[in-house]
Amino acid sequence: MDPIKNPFSPGAGSPPPELAGRAPVLEQARILLGRVLSGKPEKSLMLTGLRGVGKTVLLNEVRRMAQEAGYRTVLVEAHEDKALGPLIAAPLKTVFFELDRIALAGDRVKRGLRVLRSFLGSMKVKLGEFEIGLDIEPETGAADSGDIEIDFPNLLEALGEAAKEKKTAVALLIDEIQYLSQKELGAIIMGMHRMQQRQLPVVLLGAGLPVLPGLAGESKSYAERLFAFPDVGALSQADSNKAICEPAAAEGVEISDLVLAETFRLTKGYPYFIQEWGYQIWNLAQSSPIELGIVQGAADSVIKRLDQNFFRVRFDRLTPSEKSFLRAMAELGSGAIRSGDIANYLGVKVNSIGPVRAKLIKKGMIYSPAYGDIAFTVPLFDEFMKRAMPTLSSTK
Ligand SMILES: Nc1ncnc2c1ncn2[C@@H]1O[C@H](COP(=O)(O)OP(=O)(O)OP(=O)(O)O)[C@@H](O)[C@H]1O
Ligand SMILES: [Mg+2]
Repeated sequence: MDPIKNPFSPGAGSPPPELAGRAPVLEQARILLGRVLSGKPEKSLMLTGLRGVGKTVLLNEVRRMAQEAGYRTVLVEAHEDKALGPLIAAPLKTVFFELDRIALAGDRVKRGLRVLRSFLGSMKVKLGEFEIGLDIEPETGAADSGDIEIDFPNLLEALGEAAKEKKTAVALLIDEIQYLSQKELGAIIMGMHRMQQRQLPVVLLGAGLPVLPGLAGESKSYAERLFAFPDVGALSQADSNKAICEPAAAEGVEISDLVLAETFRLTKGYPYFIQEWGYQIWNLAQSSPIELGIVQGAADSVIKRLDQNFFRVRFDRLTPSEKSFLRAMAELGSGAIRSGDIANYLGVKVNSIGPVRAKLIKKGMIYSPAYGDIAFTVPLFDEFMKRAMPTLSSTK
């Protein structure tokens, strides 16, 4: 088929031609946005799921919906080694300026800017290099304690008051939430608690790997009360079929049922893999309908491309001991695995693997679905590890 017309879109954050299977979570978002805009309380959303399931794509879609509903939006991507404060300050400044341009009387936006300035001042002390031009006197004592769990809720409150005065609402969207520190996550939770108490029009939409199992005590119970955690996962067979058929049909190309069944078997319904298979099948096929032989013929190139793009970038960031750890995990299966079993397999004591385990969690390679268990964050990573390292001692 003509590669120029290829509708499939493998790639981080690339919008798929058909956003299959996500109607329920989009409906949840629509209700949340509508309720908060009309001054009613609703749980904010944290979209959580494994790598490549379509969280970023969903977050961008919800952002579009928010903008259409009249929200001002702030989108940031959390980062392994960057603090939340400096990341969010610049886009918040933009939103305050946007609010300022709304022609309704009031002084809350000006106050909000002074609070932002005080927030910045405290960070400057802490971060030294951080600079963001804001030519306004800070509101001393408003958000400059240097403790993000105190300062961020105060800043959010000033933002919420400014938005309310201008009869609008603000959506804060944070991707890769698993990279936030416990304290930053705590600050967000406290901030949203404040929004709920004061009924201010601010919603938070997060996306990332599952974070709830990692939270403890009070943080966890607050989080559960303030947020819904819709699980963004693999697609059902019907939705997977739709994700492949509809974009092809829009180009006048038919796909046989056998192809659909085989693609589902190979991808297990994971969106990134569906796009990659769809993309290669399309390029290889000569005529419509596309038949099973094409899938078989595409296998080598799909696996090669996935290894090089999706898997390899993650593998290359690992140290040799991290690789051995993951290779041992791969041997033990694709689901949740007990840390003790990995230690046994490696022939070492369980506490000696603690530091490697912690580093792999920080890098977002594994997560803990339940106490004492760990699992891969990347679907089918066990199969890749076996390809990349045929034995525990092989290095690549
Ligand atoms: N509902 C869907 N149906 C079909 N394809 C989808 C769907 N959602 C996402 N995709 C495709 O899956 C791929 C991955 O999407 P995205 O980058 O949003 O995933 P992610 O969950 O954010 O991954 P990561 O955790 O690595 O950031 C993209 O190629 C996208 O086009
Ligand atoms: Mg993403």
